[in-house]
Amino acid sequence: MKVLLVGATGNLGIRLVAALLTHDHSVVAFVRSPNKLESLLPISVYRQITVVQGDAKDAASIKKAILDADCDAVVNTAGLAALPPWGKSDLPAIFRAVLNAVQDAGSERKRPLRTWFLGGLGVLCFPGSESMLSNYIPIYREHRQNIHLLKSLPPNTNTVDWSMLCPGTMPPESSEVTVPTKLLHGKLIANATTPPLWQDSWMKHIPLIGKLVVCAMNAPRYETTLEQNADLIATDLESHESPWSGRTVGVIDPSK
Ligand SMILES: NC(=O)c1ccc[n+]([C@@H]2O[C@H](COP(=O)([O-])OP(=O)(O)OC[C@H]3O[C@@H](n4cnc5c(N)ncnc54)[C@H](OP(=O)(O)O)[C@@H]3O)[C@@H](O)[C@H]2O)c1
Repeated sequence: MKVLLVGATGNLGIRLVAALLTHDHSVVAFVRSPNKLESLLPISVYRQITVVQGDAKDAASIKKAILDADCDAVVNTAGLAALPPWGKSDLPAIFRAVLNAVQDAGSERKRPLRTWFLGGLGVLCFPGSESMLSNYIPIYREHRQNIHLLKSLPPNTNTVDWSMLCPGTMPPESSEVTVPTKLLHGKLIANATTPPLWQDSWMKHIPLIGKLVVCAMNAPRYETTLEQNADLIATDLESHESPWSGRTVGVIDPSK
């Protein structure tokens, strides 16, 4: 596919450039600073991509980039959620702009764009309930308004075919970006709506704090690497019908 990658200079963004090229996608990188992107990538990798300069809060520029390059898919890694519950970042404004751009471009080209957004572990549901994990551990809660926005789209909307990847912490495997990529930790297991391979416990029945304790016990198990998550998205974009359409997606590293 031809993929518009918004936020290509970020931790996940640079690994996505490499993963997308490895999976034979064409990459159009949408960044604030092409110079910064050039400094982060080996020259042989930088030469394989198209770079568009722009601000991810500007829906009109993103839409233009999609239509000018005739992209089929968008991945948004721009913006970083604030950690404390009272924190504010640009992520919600970026998210809205990318979603508006994707919808407008989708209706103009009369085909929805396959779009991956980034969320966090906290927007997945506690298994067996409809309550988000961030109700129990209140961090990175800005992702919640983003998923509410996606879920409030009219059900028959035919302008965006979205998925939201919801990883836990993502350390890097390596600071080196190579094409083809070398996955040191292997492929992830993914699951829609709830975290995969959740370890249940009787402790969830303890009044008031039970589910918080179970979330805190499970959370470290969901550490995956930036490279593994980039590979998951790049692999998914190889198929025209994704099992993750319209879903939040949790991931775990089965090798741990
Ligand atoms: N890293 C983790 O452990 C982790 C875990 C779970 C979820 N997530 C989520 O995953 C996403 C990506 O994380 P990350 O670690 O890759 O973040 P990051 O390294 O901070 O990258 C953020 C990217 O957003 C870009 N950006 C910010 N504002 C922009 C704007 N107005 N216009 C264009 N680009 C803009 C930055 O560009 P500049 O280079 O120009 O500043 C940078 O490329 C975030 O939503 C984060 O909340 C991350």
